[in-house]
Amino acid sequence: MNNSIRVGMVGAGYMVKLHSLSMKNLAAFTDDNRDRFELVRLVDNNMELAQHEAMRWGWKHAESDWRTVTRSPDIDLVDIATPNDMHLEMCLDAFAHGKHVLCEKPLALNRHQAAEMARLAQASGKIHMVNFTYRAWPAIAQAQKIIQEGKLGRIRHFEGHFFQDHNNDHTIPLHWRFNKARAGAGALGDIGSHIIDLARFLVGEVASVSALTQRFIAQRPLPHDKIQQGEVDVDDLTAALIRFENGASGSIKASWALPGFKNDVYFVVVGEKGALRFSWERSNELQIFDAEDAPQLSGYRTVLIGRAHPGAELFWFPALGGELGLGVTAQGMGYGDAFTLSFRHFANAIKAGVSTAPNFIDGLRCCEIIDAILTSASENRWVEVEKTCI
Ligand SMILES: NC(=O)c1ccc[n+]([C@@H]2O[C@H](COP(=O)([O-])OP(=O)(O)OC[C@H]3O[C@@H](n4cnc5c(N)ncnc54)[C@H](O)[C@@H]3O)[C@@H](O)[C@H]2O)c1
Repeated sequence: MNNSIRVGMVGAGYMVKLHSLSMKNLAAFTDDNRDRFELVRLVDNNMELAQHEAMRWGWKHAESDWRTVTRSPDIDLVDIATPNDMHLEMCLDAFAHGKHVLCEKPLALNRHQAAEMARLAQASGKIHMVNFTYRAWPAIAQAQKIIQEGKLGRIRHFEGHFFQDHNNDHTIPLHWRFNKARAGAGALGDIGSHIIDLARFLVGEVASVSALTQRFIAQRPLPHDKIQQGEVDVDDLTAALIRFENGASGSIKASWALPGFKNDVYFVVVGEKGALRFSWERSNELQIFDAEDAPQLSGYRTVLIGRAHPGAELFWFPALGGELGLGVTAQGMGYGDAFTLSFRHFANAIKAGVSTAPNFIDGLRCCEIIDAILTSASENRWVEVEKTCI
């Protein structure tokens, strides 16, 4: 395990599965031991949970105080997967103690916190990353490559949404995601942040927004007390029109309570020469439209993801064409693989000593757009995105 990256993770909830699985997977997908993560310490303020998950995923130690990872000499990388209101304090302490930091999205509760974090991240000289998982997904990385190569020509329009339906259930209790003070925003911050990041990744910086928000379920049962109800103070749905700095137009929508949408991370990017379309509900496919096709052949064609696409060579596709990168495409990849790809990207950045996107500046830009969208919705007007100089 020479040169392995020694990790301390904070938060043993939902994300511990994906993060632990990815770090363990990565070790088996490469012969270079510098790519390997060593799972040293898992922290949760629920000690029983920390112990249970540590045993399940092979973390060496379980703790209940997060400073045992931000301040410990045997940790290189602090991996933060707690509710959003804790990200600021933990990140600042980790940088102050010379750690690389991987923080879950959204980076912070608002752009002011995010700016402080991004400034300190840059000043620290350490590697800083925000886990916008979908950027590394082969179909999406391929889409970005096609756009960068100019194959769509000038981009005219982006339409993106992240829709789910699980929070349409009234019996789900009032947990931290329904509380603005703990989450920053509702569906917009929780899942809309991914679409905002993809809009920036695929098309460019957002200049201004005009938005509305909706709350479908205003009260939810208090945890541990099924009778009493508490107030929800975040959005169940947000829809925003956007103007990009490069002149393209677009829309970003997010909701976690739209019946029928199971997990639809969706976008279409339309340029003067063609278009690209993607949905996570068919995540192994990228749809490509070429405006130069003859009229009788005009239409989207579906490309199945395989080892020829960025990142996918790591996975389940045997190399039949050797150096040509050809091989079986149809075995498919899934959600856990997306996290493994993100973690490979982070491991490579740490190994190279160079912070690459998505980093804390990307996290900051996303928070700036979220703030502009919320201001626009509450004041019912177009709002310029205020960008921090950094
Ligand atoms: N990249 C993605 O696609 C993705 C997906 C889901 C969640 N997330 C992000 O990951 C983060 C965590 O989300 P989750 O779904 O795992 O939440 P969760 O509620 O399932 O787990 C959070 C855990 O943090 C623990 N915790 C809270 N405060 C703590 C503290 N002060 N010290 C130590 N532990 C503390 C809680 O006890 C809980 O076990 C959030 O920022 C969320 O937005 C990202």
